[in-house]
Amino acid sequence: MSPTRREILRTVGSVTALATTSAVTGCNTFQNSNDVHTGPATVKAADVPVGGGTVIDGTNFVITQPTKGTFKGFVRVCPHAGCQVDKVHDGAILCPCHGSKFAITDGHVTQGPATSGLGKATVTQKGETLTISGS
Ligand code: FES
Repeated sequence: MSPTRREILRTVGSVTALATTSAVTGCNTFQNSNDVHTGPATVKAADVPVGGGTVIDGTNFVITQPTKGTFKGFVRVCPHAGCQVDKVHDGAILCPCHGSKFAITDGHVTQGPATSGLGKATVTQKGETLTISGS
């Protein structure tokens, strides 16, 4: 006996829901935010390339320098499913989980699947030292 259209749709829906749950769970496992420092962090201004940025390992932050002397701070949590962005390349902040990209200028989405930008963080400069903290 062939399955009815309703039975087929029900099965497809269940498989889709399972796949989505697995993908999100995988991201959350990857993130492991228990070891991430959310408090202020410091980095040398010279360590943040002009036209690029630096992911501050062990923290929840990324600092970019879109133009010489202008620093921007963002929270590393990808708004798509919670992975941590982990690279800055070709003017974009990259999420390793599903390929979202965010602009180094203001954190807006330049490539999905994320539909919103990165959260902003506050960057202050004292001499050659940048301090970044949650806003
Ligand atoms: S968590 Fe999916 S693209 Fe970042």
